[in-house]
Amino acid sequence: MKIAVVGATGLVGTEILKVLAERNFPVSEIIPVASEKSIGKQVEFKGKQFTVVGYEDAIKMKPAVAIFSAGGSSSLALAPLFAAAGIPVIDNSSAWRMDPTKKLIVPEVNANTITAEDKIIANPNCSTIQMVVVMKPLHDKYKIKRVVVSTYQSVTGTGKAAVDQLFAERAGDDSVAKVYPHKIDLNVLPHIDVFLDNGYTKEEMKMVNETKKIMGDDSIAVTATTVRIPTVGGHSEAVNIEFENDFDLDEVRRLLSETEGVIVQDDPKNFVYPMPINSHGKDEVFVGRIRRDESQKNTLNLWVVADNLRKGAATNAVQIAEYMLKANLL
Ligand SMILES: NC(=O)c1ccc[n+]([C@@H]2O[C@H](COP(=O)([O-])OP(=O)(O)OC[C@H]3O[C@@H](n4cnc5c(N)ncnc54)[C@H](OP(=O)(O)O)[C@@H]3O)[C@@H](O)[C@H]2O)c1
Repeated sequence: MKIAVVGATGLVGTEILKVLAERNFPVSEIIPVASEKSIGKQVEFKGKQFTVVGYEDAIKMKPAVAIFSAGGSSSLALAPLFAAAGIPVIDNSSAWRMDPTKKLIVPEVNANTITAEDKIIANPNCSTIQMVVVMKPLHDKYKIKRVVVSTYQSVTGTGKAAVDQLFAERAGDDSVAKVYPHKIDLNVLPHIDVFLDNGYTKEEMKMVNETKKIMGDDSIAVTATTVRIPTVGGHSEAVNIEFENDFDLDEVRRLLSETEGVIVQDDPKNFVYPMPINSHGKDEVFVGRIRRDESQKNTLNLWVVADNLRKGAATNAVQIAEYMLKANLL
């Protein structure tokens, strides 16, 4: 089938092409779309070159689905045009996530809510996706009351220009265009996305609100501190979860190791725990440092790592397309 990738020249778009190829999605033709400056450029898919086109040409070519990673404002403008032409859109931006008429999907958690009426489907924020994949089996078993999360997020989450800033600074070039308000190399920024009136950042409130929407449970309390660190392989999260009911640590490990898309790496005595350097390029969510919070009853500490460009974006979007294909929705 013909697949449009809108934002095909960007970090997430490039990863979407790789994931479609690796997972052998039945693609007959890739229709790459990017901004006007990239029209005519070539992108590679399975050893073949495809020419970047504008969105109008892409709609005329009638793809079976359009996977968007072109930023919020492009998505607000263009996704409805694809949808109106009957082309389902899976969107990686934040544009539609909290729209009550749109589904926010992590396949392991809530793909079964997608119907033929859903023409624009939102892919959640990267830091939220990896957290809810781990929360879901634990919520089903012990019922989550509250989550306290601190993130350690990769610069790849900001896009190409941020990766350029990190490596230019590392090479001693401070003249590079700054995406962040401060140096990122050898630094830590307690600041992701814009600050809101309540003192939190938009990224932090995405973790709060998107988690409730995906889990379908407004009673789950979430508080987040989101932090940018100078790494590229993936996002890491220290997650503290308080349950309604008590748990058994061995059972927690078993539940997580039996969960699709989750890999338990938890042997601290042998220095085995998840790290972004190992999650890079992988589709799974890695969890380790599984331990009881000894300061409070029914409370668990976890360390969760995933490649934000993969499960946090491209892989999750392609898995939504895979589900829709299986459910005869494409
Ligand atoms: N990076 C992550 O971890 C992550 C995770 C989840 C979601 N997302 C979301 O995914 C989106 C893309 O992120 P990214 O990191 O891939 O950014 P990026 O590397 O800056 O790439 C942006 C892409 O969008 C294209 N684009 C920009 N304006 C366009 C327009 N008007 N029409 C069509 N294409 C347009 C760009 O084309 P040109 O090359 O022609 O400029 C490029 O292909 C953002 O909404 C981001 O929030 C990112």
